[in-house]
Amino acid sequence: MAADAVTLIMNDHRLLEGLLAQLRTDQGDRHALVEEITARLTAHARAEEQEVYPAIAQADPGEKPEVDHAYDEHLQAEHELAKVRNLIASPHFGDAVTAFVAAVKHHVEEEENEVLPRLREVVDADTLHRLGAAFARAQARELASTGFAAPDEAVDADGHAQTETVVDDGGDEFDKATRDELYEMAKKADIAGRSGMKKEELAKELRKQR
Ligand SMILES: [Fe+2]
Ligand SMILES: [Fe+2]
Repeated sequence: MAADAVTLIMNDHRLLEGLLAQLRTDQGDRHALVEEITARLTAHARAEEQEVYPAIAQADPGEKPEVDHAYDEHLQAEHELAKVRNLIASPHFGDAVTAFVAAVKHHVEEEENEVLPRLREVVDADTLHRLGAAFARAQARELASTGFAAPDEAVDADGHAQTETVVDDGGDEFDKATRDELYEMAKKADIAGRSGMKKEELAKELRKQR
Protein backbone atom coordinates (compact mmCIF):
# COMPACT_ATOMS: atom_id res chain seq x y z
CA MET A 1 0.00 0.00 0.00
CA ALA A 2 1.22 3.49 -0.78
CA ALA A 3 2.49 5.55 2.13
CA ASP A 4 -0.02 7.89 3.76
CA ALA A 5 -0.08 11.58 2.85
CA VAL A 6 1.40 12.76 6.16
CA THR A 7 4.41 10.43 5.90
CA LEU A 8 5.07 11.36 2.27
CA ILE A 9 4.84 15.09 2.96
CA MET A 10 7.10 14.87 6.00
CA ASN A 11 9.69 12.76 4.12
CA ASP A 12 9.70 15.37 1.38
CA HIS A 13 10.22 18.12 3.98
CA ARG A 14 13.37 16.31 5.14
CA LEU A 15 14.60 16.05 1.54
CA LEU A 16 13.98 19.78 1.02
CA GLU A 17 15.72 20.63 4.30
CA GLY A 18 18.81 18.75 3.11
CA LEU A 19 18.88 20.88 -0.04
CA LEU A 20 18.34 24.08 1.99
CA ALA A 21 21.28 23.14 4.23
CA GLN A 22 23.46 22.85 1.11
CA LEU A 23 22.19 26.24 -0.09
CA ARG A 24 23.15 27.85 3.23
CA THR A 25 26.71 26.53 3.08
CA ASP A 26 26.91 27.86 -0.51
CA GLN A 27 29.38 25.28 -1.74
CA GLY A 28 29.19 23.76 -5.20
CA ASP A 29 27.05 24.87 -8.07
CA ARG A 30 24.60 27.59 -6.96
CA HIS A 31 22.64 27.51 -10.19
CA ALA A 32 22.10 23.75 -10.17
CA LEU A 33 21.10 23.73 -6.51
CA VAL A 34 18.64 26.61 -6.90
CA GLU A 35 17.12 24.87 -9.94
CA GLU A 36 16.63 21.66 -7.97
CA ILE A 37 15.15 23.48 -4.96
CA THR A 38 12.79 25.42 -7.24
CA ALA A 39 11.61 22.22 -8.94
CA ARG A 40 11.13 20.24 -5.73
CA LEU A 41 9.59 23.01 -3.64
CA THR A 42 7.16 23.95 -6.43
CA ALA A 43 6.13 20.32 -7.03
CA HIS A 44 5.63 19.79 -3.29
CA ALA A 45 3.52 22.93 -2.86
CA ARG A 46 1.37 22.32 -5.96
CA ALA A 47 0.71 18.69 -4.93
CA GLU A 48 -0.37 19.82 -1.46
CA GLU A 49 -2.58 22.55 -2.92
CA GLN A 50 -4.19 20.24 -5.49
CA GLU A 51 -4.72 17.13 -3.41
CA VAL A 52 -4.22 17.61 0.33
CA TYR A 53 -5.28 21.09 1.41
CA PRO A 54 -8.73 20.88 -0.25
CA ALA A 55 -9.33 17.52 1.48
CA ILE A 56 -8.72 19.10 4.90
CA ALA A 57 -11.04 22.04 4.24
CA GLN A 58 -13.67 19.67 2.86
CA ALA A 59 -13.52 17.27 5.82
CA ASP A 60 -13.61 20.12 8.33
CA PRO A 61 -14.79 23.52 7.02
CA GLY A 62 -13.65 25.02 10.33
CA GLU A 63 -10.07 24.41 9.15
CA LYS A 64 -10.51 26.64 6.09
CA PRO A 65 -8.70 29.67 7.63
CA GLU A 66 -5.73 27.47 8.59
CA VAL A 67 -5.61 26.03 5.06
CA ASP A 68 -5.88 29.50 3.49
CA HIS A 69 -2.99 30.58 5.69
CA ALA A 70 -0.92 27.65 4.42
CA TYR A 71 -1.59 28.71 0.79
CA ASP A 72 -0.38 32.22 1.69
CA GLU A 73 2.79 30.80 3.20
CA HIS A 74 3.51 28.93 -0.05
CA LEU A 75 3.22 32.23 -1.89
CA GLN A 76 5.50 33.89 0.65
CA ALA A 77 8.17 31.16 0.34
CA GLU A 78 7.99 31.29 -3.47
CA HIS A 79 8.31 35.07 -3.37
CA GLU A 80 11.51 34.72 -1.30
CA LEU A 81 12.76 32.01 -3.66
CA ALA A 82 12.24 34.35 -6.64
CA LYS A 83 14.54 36.84 -4.89
CA VAL A 84 17.15 34.10 -4.38
CA ARG A 85 16.99 33.34 -8.11
CA ASN A 86 17.25 37.02 -9.07
CA LEU A 87 20.19 37.63 -6.73
CA ILE A 88 22.13 34.49 -7.62
CA ALA A 89 25.17 36.46 -8.81
CA SER A 90 24.76 39.30 -6.30
CA PRO A 91 26.55 40.00 -2.99
CA HIS A 92 23.02 39.97 -1.46
CA PHE A 93 22.52 36.29 -2.33
CA GLY A 94 23.26 35.19 1.26
CA ASP A 95 20.64 37.54 2.72
CA ALA A 96 18.06 36.33 0.22
CA VAL A 97 18.86 32.71 1.14
CA THR A 98 18.46 33.49 4.86
CA ALA A 99 15.00 35.02 4.28
CA PHE A 100 13.91 32.17 2.01
CA VAL A 101 15.08 29.44 4.39
CA ALA A 102 13.30 31.19 7.30
CA ALA A 103 10.03 31.34 5.31
CA VAL A 104 10.21 27.63 4.43
CA LYS A 105 11.17 26.63 7.97
CA HIS A 106 8.26 28.58 9.44
CA HIS A 107 5.78 26.99 7.03
CA VAL A 108 7.10 23.45 7.54
CA GLU A 109 6.81 23.89 11.32
CA GLU A 110 3.22 25.09 11.08
CA GLU A 111 2.33 22.34 8.67
CA GLU A 112 3.86 19.61 10.83
CA ASN A 113 2.57 20.99 14.15
CA GLU A 114 -0.91 22.10 13.10
CA VAL A 115 -2.05 21.24 9.58
CA LEU A 116 -0.91 17.62 9.24
CA PRO A 117 -2.00 16.52 12.77
CA ARG A 118 -5.43 18.01 11.93
CA LEU A 119 -5.51 16.04 8.67
CA ARG A 120 -4.91 12.83 10.63
CA GLU A 121 -7.87 13.70 12.87
CA VAL A 122 -10.39 14.61 10.18
CA VAL A 123 -9.91 11.76 7.67
CA ASP A 124 -9.76 7.98 8.14
CA ALA A 125 -6.71 5.78 7.41
CA ASP A 126 -7.93 4.72 3.95
CA THR A 127 -8.47 8.32 2.92
CA LEU A 128 -5.02 9.23 4.25
CA HIS A 129 -3.46 6.57 1.99
CA ARG A 130 -5.59 7.58 -0.98
CA LEU A 131 -4.46 11.19 -0.45
CA GLY A 132 -0.86 9.94 -0.22
CA ALA A 133 -1.15 8.29 -3.63
CA ALA A 134 -2.80 11.41 -5.09
CA PHE A 135 -0.08 13.64 -3.59
CA ALA A 136 2.68 11.42 -5.05
CA ARG A 137 1.02 11.38 -8.50
CA ALA A 138 0.58 15.16 -8.57
CA GLN A 139 4.15 15.69 -7.40
CA ALA A 140 5.56 13.30 -10.04
CA ARG A 141 3.50 15.07 -12.72
CA GLU A 142 4.92 18.45 -11.66
CA LEU A 143 8.47 17.11 -11.52
CA ALA A 144 8.27 15.32 -14.88
CA SER A 145 8.87 18.50 -16.88
CA THR A 146 11.88 19.48 -14.74
CA GLY A 147 14.07 16.39 -15.23
CA PHE A 148 14.35 15.76 -11.48
CA ALA A 149 13.39 12.34 -10.13
CA ALA A 150 10.33 11.93 -7.91
CA PRO A 151 11.31 11.50 -4.23
CA ASP A 152 10.85 7.73 -4.01
CA GLU A 153 13.53 7.42 -6.68
CA ALA A 154 15.65 10.27 -5.32
CA VAL A 155 15.78 9.21 -1.67
CA ASP A 156 17.52 6.03 -0.54
CA ALA A 157 16.44 3.82 2.36
CA ASP A 158 18.07 6.14 4.91
CA GLY A 159 16.26 9.17 3.51
CA HIS A 160 19.42 10.60 1.93
CA ALA A 161 19.15 12.24 -1.44
CA GLN A 162 21.04 10.24 -4.04
CA THR A 163 23.55 12.10 -6.13
CA GLU A 164 23.42 11.78 -9.87
CA THR A 165 25.59 9.13 -11.43
CA VAL A 166 28.01 10.59 -13.93
CA VAL A 167 29.26 8.16 -16.54
CA ASP A 168 32.92 8.81 -17.31
CA ASP A 169 33.48 7.88 -20.93
CA GLY A 170 36.44 10.19 -21.38
CA GLY A 171 34.00 12.98 -22.13
CA ASP A 172 34.25 16.15 -24.17
CA GLU A 173 34.76 19.79 -23.16
CA PHE A 174 31.10 20.01 -22.14
CA ASP A 175 31.45 17.09 -19.75
CA LYS A 176 34.39 18.77 -18.07
CA ALA A 177 32.70 22.18 -17.77
CA THR A 178 30.76 23.26 -14.68
CA ARG A 179 27.07 24.11 -14.95
CA ASP A 180 27.97 27.81 -14.67
CA GLU A 181 30.43 27.52 -17.56
CA LEU A 182 27.89 25.62 -19.67
CA TYR A 183 25.28 28.25 -18.85
CA GLU A 184 27.61 31.01 -20.08
CA MET A 185 28.25 29.06 -23.31
CA ALA A 186 24.50 28.54 -23.73
CA LYS A 187 23.96 32.26 -23.23
CA LYS A 188 26.46 33.07 -25.99
CA ALA A 189 24.81 30.50 -28.24
CA ASP A 190 21.41 31.99 -27.32
CA ILE A 191 19.93 28.60 -26.39
CA ALA A 192 16.30 29.06 -25.43
CA GLY A 193 15.16 27.83 -22.00
CA ARG A 194 18.76 27.65 -20.73
CA SER A 195 18.03 29.02 -17.25
CA GLY A 196 15.78 26.04 -16.48
CA MET A 197 18.23 23.42 -17.76
CA LYS A 198 20.37 21.08 -15.73
CA LYS A 199 24.07 20.64 -16.53
CA GLU A 200 23.47 17.56 -18.72
CA GLU A 201 20.69 19.27 -20.67
CA LEU A 202 22.88 22.31 -21.35
CA ALA A 203 25.69 20.02 -22.54
CA LYS A 204 23.27 18.17 -24.85
CA GLU A 205 21.98 21.40 -26.39
CA LEU A 206 25.53 22.76 -26.84
CA ARG A 207 26.61 19.55 -28.60
CA LYS A 208 23.77 19.99 -31.08
CA GLN A 209 25.23 23.39 -32.00
CA ARG A 210 28.65 22.01 -32.93
FE1 LIG B 1 4.66 20.75 2.99
FE1 LIG C 1 2.87 23.34 2.49
